[in-house]
Amino acid sequence: MGESNNGMRVIVMFGPPGAGKGTQAQKLQEEFGYLHISTGDILREAVEKKTPVGLKAKKCMDKGELVPDDVIIPIVKDKLERSINVPGFLFDGFPRTIPQAEMLDKVLSEMGTAIGRVIYLNTTAKIIVKRLSGRRTCEKCGKIYHMVTLPPKIDGKCDECNGRVILRDDDSEETIIRRLKVYEQQTAAILKYFKKKGILLEVDGALPVKDSYEIIRANLIQEKV
Ligand code: AP5
Repeated sequence: MGESNNGMRVIVMFGPPGAGKGTQAQKLQEEFGYLHISTGDILREAVEKKTPVGLKAKKCMDKGELVPDDVIIPIVKDKLERSINVPGFLFDGFPRTIPQAEMLDKVLSEMGTAIGRVIYLNTTAKIIVKRLSGRRTCEKCGKIYHMVTLPPKIDGKCDECNGRVILRDDDSEETIIRRLKVYEQQTAAILKYFKKKGILLEVDGALPVKDSYEIIRANLIQEKV
């Protein structure tokens, strides 16, 4: 496994809700400068702006269901096609279904590159519920906090941009449980797809943030995927 044809790295953060995908992706983006593509963030922005996509997506997101492929795939395709001169892509929350994974492979291949590494963060349902019910997110810049383990310095205010730090609409206990079920039923199956390609790195998502990050970082530096 080496660098992709044009030197652009493509990394996918994979795992159940609350496993720490966004937290690790923000750290990787800071250190390596890759373009962080979080489909959850893109959809939340569309919901906030009440765009036609946002209105459609909100119904699914509030219930903890996946947004349909025919809504999410064109958004990601467009984002990729418009991104030039970036050192790499860091996907977070995408792909989540086989059609999404196939589309990603196709578009990347047309760009002369491919997924180099899928980082699979895994942890237990008990930990996930604890993490998500305590999570708070900056509504302006998206920085992720936790009320117990990683609170902002000033209550309710983002350390980075002074934005409002809020509870996500889908972080209620009932919706968290539904999102976990949806992950097991509709998303976990793509692990086989990635395993076959030999690009999967499994990392214990229950480890402290800095320990998981060190494992991921060391792998990316060593393997140059
Ligand atoms: P999305 O926003 O992608 O949510 P998700 O996949 O459910 O993942 P989360 O953002 O909840 O968790 P995370 O793994 O990023 O954890 P985080 O780092 O924040 O999607 C939301 C919705 O949008 C979906 O339900 C769906 O409706 C729709 N959607 C999005 N993409 C889609 C797609 N491709 N197709 C169809 N629909 C799509 O960490 C969580 C908390 O834990 C934080 O408080 C953090 O501080 C803390 N924490 C993190 N790591 C650690 C650690 N190691 N130790 C202790 N605490 C930690």
